[in-house]
Amino acid sequence: SAAAPAPAPLAGRHMLVTAGPTHEPIDPVRYIANRSSGRQGFALAGALARLGARVTLVAGPVSLPTPAGVTRVDVESGRAMAAAVDAALPADAAILVAAVADWYAEPAPQKVKKGEAAPSLALHLNPDILAGLARDPRRPRLLVGFAAETEQLLAHATAKRARKGCDWIVANDVSGDVMGGAENRVLLVTETGVEEWPRLAKTAVAERLAARIAATLTEPQ
Ligand code: CTP
Ligand code: CA
Repeated sequence: SAAAPAPAPLAGRHMLVTAGPTHEPIDPVRYIANRSSGRQGFALAGALARLGARVTLVAGPVSLPTPAGVTRVDVESGRAMAAAVDAALPADAAILVAAVADWYAEPAPQKVKKGEAAPSLALHLNPDILAGLARDPRRPRLLVGFAAETEQLLAHATAKRARKGCDWIVANDVSGDVMGGAENRVLLVTETGVEEWPRLAKTAVAERLAARIAATLTEPQ
């Protein structure tokens, strides 16, 4: 008879992933957003599901298919993403790949007309979902943030890990052609130090990270 399939390492675990940008409306036809295709986060959600996890993917506005076996919650704004993350708790791990807009505006009820002078925008800080989860009594056992930087990658990533109170930061240099592309080159900053990963397809970064997450969660606590 055929050999039994290998046990799924993340069976029975709930993984919470955020991905994509958020859109913060200015008026009914305009928004503020970060650049993000969602590809890395979607690939990670799929890879975690293939390891047997129950996966909730909170996705900003992207045009990507939902990976097999993943429960997707679509949101637009950073505040809606924060609420969807809160509603999805508890989770064994949360991996926040989304490029959340740092600020939101109070949207005008009607389309702002161009007029003579450019309008000025009053901006307010969005909730920091990652820092909030780090302080939450329901904090996932493993909390992972992503950091896209255009300079001083390691210094910014190390400082961000401490400031946010997360376990790992996956840092990538976006000064080149990574945004929207199929490949990524990342540093993994953990409690024990820094690993430099080679330039890999985003799907390969996702599989390697998912395997790493599974190894950590299956270690005795
Ligand atoms: N993040 C979040 N909520 C926010 C902003 C960021 O959860 N409002 C998360 C991102 O999903 C990512 C991590 O925090 O996992 C780092 O995001 P980043 O934008 O690099 O950090 P910031 O603290 O916003 O710093 P910066 O000034 O570099 O934008
Ligand atoms: Ca930011």
